[in-house]
Amino acid sequence: MDHFLYRDGILHAEDVAIPQIARRVGTPFYVYSAATLRRHIGLFAEALDWAEHLVCFAVKSNSNLAVLKLLGDMGAGMDVVSEGEYRRALAAGVPGDRIVFSGVGKTRAEMRLALTHGIRQFNLESEPEMRALSHVATEMGVIAPVTVRVNPNVDAKTHAKISTGKSENKFGIPIARARDVYAEIATLPGLKAVGIDVHIGSQLTELEPFRQAYQKVAELTEALRADGHDITRLDLGGGLGIPYERSNFAPPLPLEYGQMVRETVGHLGCEIEIEPGRLVSGNAGLMVTSVIYVKKGEGQDFLIVDAGMNDLVRPAMYEAHHDIIPVIEATPGQEKARYDIVGPICETGDTFAKRRDLDSLEADDLIAFRSAGAYGAVMASEYNSRPLIPEVLVMGDQFEVIRARPTYEDMLGRDTIPSWL
Ligand code: LLP
Repeated sequence: MDHFLYRDGILHAEDVAIPQIARRVGTPFYVYSAATLRRHIGLFAEALDWAEHLVCFAVKSNSNLAVLKLLGDMGAGMDVVSEGEYRRALAAGVPGDRIVFSGVGKTRAEMRLALTHGIRQFNLESEPEMRALSHVATEMGVIAPVTVRVNPNVDAKTHAKISTGKSENKFGIPIARARDVYAEIATLPGLKAVGIDVHIGSQLTELEPFRQAYQKVAELTEALRADGHDITRLDLGGGLGIPYERSNFAPPLPLEYGQMVRETVGHLGCEIEIEPGRLVSGNAGLMVTSVIYVKKGEGQDFLIVDAGMNDLVRPAMYEAHHDIIPVIEATPGQEKARYDIVGPICETGDTFAKRRDLDSLEADDLIAFRSAGAYGAVMASEYNSRPLIPEVLVMGDQFEVIRARPTYEDMLGRDTIPSWL
């Protein structure tokens, strides 16, 4: 459920009419609903209320400081994967002891920074990383809390580019090696193992792959405890999918997910962490764009809009579907049309949707891409020298630009022409 609904035929974000935002900030833009973000993070907290838990929002899905502050103020932790994300979490007011650091390539500088300002745990992804962290922590005279991200070799049954839990993927340490790795951690002076981490992929639409992975984690917990390790925390990753197509079936709900977590690992008495991104932010955001031209092609009509693949890359990158809806609802009896919806970028891949049935549209009409709050703005680029598009946050009847559109001066000003040219 989200808070983007039609009122008197006009699409609103909570109590704000989308055309009003468009007039103020121009198109294209992203708009997020505070109420939806709050509702979604709350659903996970509720789903895990049977255990001590921390819901760590995956910052990579939407890293705007206002979004992080809103979620952090509700008690959420943050899952970060880079110095930039770590700095964002801190800047949003999230204390270090609610930040977990994931990622296969943490640098020594990132480790040092997190150990200086505070960290809940590092999720280790390899043995060289484990030794590097122990070294950095020892140099600093501190002990780094760690989990090992295990790769359980299960098929997440999602898009190949976002599946992470198979042995051929670069992520984690093979679960069969985990006992040896924990044994080595116990000998390293700078590390203390506090738990186990697993994340098998993103946009999962079934619980079964999670269940298989978590059962393996439960078995490993018991084996490690028998080996004498104090495993008190399980980080179960993110990955629960969202309904991108409203007309299609819906993935499991957080409450069902929480129940499955309880069934698989509840008996262990561990503190539970999860790292949801998409389910929290995905359906809390729209990308709004306007039609530049309606172009009649041979066999199909093109809707050329002012957003491009640089603004929302998911369709080009993963063949992802986003529902596309008009901002002004069609009047009964309005003509229907079938469009290829494309951006202005000079690549055929700059196609958001093919043969999509919509109400017939004209130049300057506004349309909205649903489910664009996760992996939208964060994956944008300035390809074709197009300035990044603004982000807007709505709360009730208020809205504010939470990242402004850069000016062309800002954009060009970042380049330098050497004096010897
Ligand atoms: N934890 C870890 C370690 C992750 O790598 C990810 C996502 C998450 C949590 C959050 O997963 P979520 O709950 O959002 O599914 N750009 C792609 C998605 C990449 C996901 C990468 N890792 C897309 O647009 O679909």
